[in-house]
Amino acid sequence: MIVYLNGECVPHDHAKISVNDRGFLFGDGVYEVIRACDGLLFEPKAHLDRLGRGLRALGIRFGSDADMDALLAVSTQILRENELVEGDATIYVQITRGGAPRTHHFPSLEVPATVYLSGARFHPPVELRERGASAITSPDIRWTRCDLKTVNLLPNVLAKQCAVEAGATEALFVRDGVVIEGASTNVFAMVDGQIRTYPECNYILPGITRRVVLELAAQRNIPFVEAPILLADLRRVEELFITGTTTDVLPVVRVDGHTVGCGRPGPVTMDLQEALAVRLAGTAAIAVP
Ligand code: PDD
Repeated sequence: MIVYLNGECVPHDHAKISVNDRGFLFGDGVYEVIRACDGLLFEPKAHLDRLGRGLRALGIRFGSDADMDALLAVSTQILRENELVEGDATIYVQITRGGAPRTHHFPSLEVPATVYLSGARFHPPVELRERGASAITSPDIRWTRCDLKTVNLLPNVLAKQCAVEAGATEALFVRDGVVIEGASTNVFAMVDGQIRTYPECNYILPGITRRVVLELAAQRNIPFVEAPILLADLRRVEELFITGTTTDVLPVVRVDGHTVGCGRPGPVTMDLQEALAVRLAGTAAIAVP
């Protein structure tokens, strides 16, 4: 595998960062995961806008228009060099505040950001999508800037591990009796004939897939509301699904061992899953200028 690190494309084994890197010492950085279909990126502008917003919020000096254009060019190069131009792949981008002797406050402005980018083959979980996944609920112990896609993922890691140990695919974070989002996904429920998903605010990551799914719902005249899903309502929801770049639309048919709806992927979920697949395939159909 060839990866990009600080201006160079190098074999994965040769990519080295300082032990003083603030990503390593403090989790002081942001990241993105972008889907690629047949060599073309899905919603690249939305991902780069979110990355830019995170960099500005953290005061990391990277993210000019030229920086972002360069990231796009490097993404395409990494897909090509790793023979990921056919089929599904993902691009991972991580930018940290760079390497400097450990101080809690920011180092001098001369310290350059560390910029890392890699590509990987993506294998959609076809069988799980058809059958439906199970999830657990988990207290949301995260901070109150979950809208920033920082590499500080320890609460997400711990929750996901609990899910894996329970034989489940996802952990749904619950804050004050409300299902907020998943450890690496946004959550949607069909309640009283209407799709419901937590509104964009500081408690959730504004998922790119979430936004596309809401657009698809609007196009298909599926009623939706951006409003909290109550934990108390989980037992009576008609359908439940999660969304994300490496998840697409995944039906959830069991939560904490209880069956959701009829215990099978519901019709609205499957409709949106199919609509997203068509939209992803459409990405590949758009010719690169
Ligand atoms: N996770 N919520 C959280 C907490 C996430 O980490 C993610 C994505 C999402 C979905 O966002 P999007 O649709 O933009 O991928 C929601 C990525 C895939 C990850 O951490 O690997």
